[in-house]
Amino acid sequence: YLNYRVPRTRKEIFDTLVKGLQRLEYRGYDSAGVGVDGPRKNDNGDNVNICLIKKRGKVKALDEELYKNDSIDLDIELDTHFGIAHTRWATHGEPNAVNCHPHRSDKNNEFVVIHNGIITNYKELRKYLKSKGYKFESETDTEVIPKLIKYVYDNSENDYVSFSTLVERVIQQLEGAFALVFKSIHFPGEAIATRRGSPLLIGVRSKYELSMEQIPIQYNSTGETLIFNTECVLHSYLLVISCHYMYLFMYCVLLPCSLHAVIYLQDDDIAAVAEGKLSLHRMSRCAGEDPNRAIQTLQMELQQIMKGNFKAFMQKEIFEQPESVFNTMRGRICFDTNTVVLGGLKDHLKEIRRCRRLILIGCGTSFHAGVATRQILEELTELPVMVELASDFLDRITPVFRDDVCFFISQSGETADTLMTLRYCQGRGALTVGVTNTVGSSISRETDCGVHINAGPEIGVASTKAYTSQFVALTMFGLMMSEDRISLQKRRLEIINGLRMLPGLIKEVLTLDDQIRSIASELYQQRSLLVMGRGYNYATCMEGALKIKEITYMHSEGILAGELKHGPLALIDKHMPVIMIIMKDACYTKCHNALQQVTARQGRPIILCCQDDPEITKNAYKTIELPQTVDCLQGVLSVIPLQLMSFHLAVLRGYDVDCPRNLAKSVTVE
Ligand code: F6R
Repeated sequence: YLNYRVPRTRKEIFDTLVKGLQRLEYRGYDSAGVGVDGPRKNDNGDNVNICLIKKRGKVKALDEELYKNDSIDLDIELDTHFGIAHTRWATHGEPNAVNCHPHRSDKNNEFVVIHNGIITNYKELRKYLKSKGYKFESETDTEVIPKLIKYVYDNSENDYVSFSTLVERVIQQLEGAFALVFKSIHFPGEAIATRRGSPLLIGVRSKYELSMEQIPIQYNSTGETLIFNTECVLHSYLLVISCHYMYLFMYCVLLPCSLHAVIYLQDDDIAAVAEGKLSLHRMSRCAGEDPNRAIQTLQMELQQIMKGNFKAFMQKEIFEQPESVFNTMRGRICFDTNTVVLGGLKDHLKEIRRCRRLILIGCGTSFHAGVATRQILEELTELPVMVELASDFLDRITPVFRDDVCFFISQSGETADTLMTLRYCQGRGALTVGVTNTVGSSISRETDCGVHINAGPEIGVASTKAYTSQFVALTMFGLMMSEDRISLQKRRLEIINGLRMLPGLIKEVLTLDDQIRSIASELYQQRSLLVMGRGYNYATCMEGALKIKEITYMHSEGILAGELKHGPLALIDKHMPVIMIIMKDACYTKCHNALQQVTARQGRPIILCCQDDPEITKNAYKTIELPQTVDCLQGVLSVIPLQLMSFHLAVLRGYDVDCPRNLAKSVTVE
């Protein structure tokens, strides 16, 4: 936030930042922090302090902290004022004030940083910086960044190195994915923002009701820099946003005028704000590439921003899946070398490879993610894989051995049945691995190692995006385990390419929403709905049926098509609604046989199938055609129509989708 040349009180700056953070709150973040310039105190013009305030909990707690803190003079007027603010949803280190952003280089706050993403080589950097005497305060991956920039600053041979050059030197050392904003007492009134792999946008607002075309833009002589002429836009505000694209709309409500102008930064762009000017350039290793970025206008209104076009969080989370699945992979897959690195597991890989068997344990949807990935894990790890419901595993007092590796899959990380099973397995000496969406949760703390699925906060009680992210995270684990298996390289490559395409294909599936709503409008008065399939899509059937029963209160059952003739076929007649999943995989012919059995009993199946499959279409009452991907990833796509179907059925039946009766988001009792 920059209002160049117009003095502002510190309070005004804090209030602006806090207001922005509050717009993001509905997503359920766990901590928040702000950092703003202090007054210039010496002749060099150095800001001798950057004021940092961080707090666990809601943004309101941060706001209250400001007013409680006597050492912060809120009425002081500042002529350079650039504030940064961040809401955190823990990925490394539990949610508390120390782990929350901005992170700092040292006690004098010489450099402070906010970060969105993951630094995968943070352990190596931390070790190196510790050997140079740096003391770390937090458990986060982010903290290496301010320490590293101070190290580079202190060790720069030339007398003067610009802020953006320092940033460039730092990001050359970083691996993973990041959107970053830097601030420093050595460069008052300046900020540098950059990204790689994580989205980053710059919002620009003018006090004048100008369209962006009217704002004079100068390109410097080399054509490498985009500069807003500040004489003409004297009171312009600049808001640098580190966010997922979804969040952008939240931030834009800070812009009071109708102009919502943004610049979408590309990977390795460096944006610098100094003395009221924004300049953009490419990192020097990308010299020669076009640095010019279009300014785009957003037309979002506040009303739409808060509600979006969504009726419920569940619906919103279904539509977030292109992004959440991408975030699960972000910074972990190198598509150039076809390697996968899950930072939380890499030190235990040798031990896991030596194990007797893998046991995947969870409840409800998380259990289904285990069922969905069992087959590919068996193929890629060449180990026996058991999938277990936590409650049943304990009831059976299942034998567990020291050379077992037990995975605990849980969105919340707090499910009591799963947690009890974790303690049971730990007591028997097995290696325990958490697959959770909530850092700092009991399961993530108590397991020996783990994977954070990075799906972002899931608020709707019915789990949707956590399932697809668990699915992808477990598949990535299989890829990591099989990295040196020569015989599996072709298969790995196929899957890695499939993962790369997945977010785009999910988007394509989401375009079927209207068609699915129309099918739901035919079904919503039924009492029962069967979902049938086999092979890779058996888990999809169980998961789809669970979604339907939990939010629509219809009876629904996921049936293994191979079991049809052993009982469920008796349910089939022309009145029983049946959804069948028949994709082009190794089970295609067998599924086709099941289809014949259903149609022979006057069943009228609605079939989820691959695009262009006339053989299926001619036997179906209706088809929902999906893009085809690798067999083992098809379940990520085929579950989405069922998530959408359950949502529309629940709305049509008049139920509260986000708060189904008798259910809680986190089941902390056995
Ligand atoms: C269904 C659903 C539940 C959870 C189950 C486990 O939509 O959300 O079945 O999957 O209660 O919860 P977590 O994954 O938090 O352990």
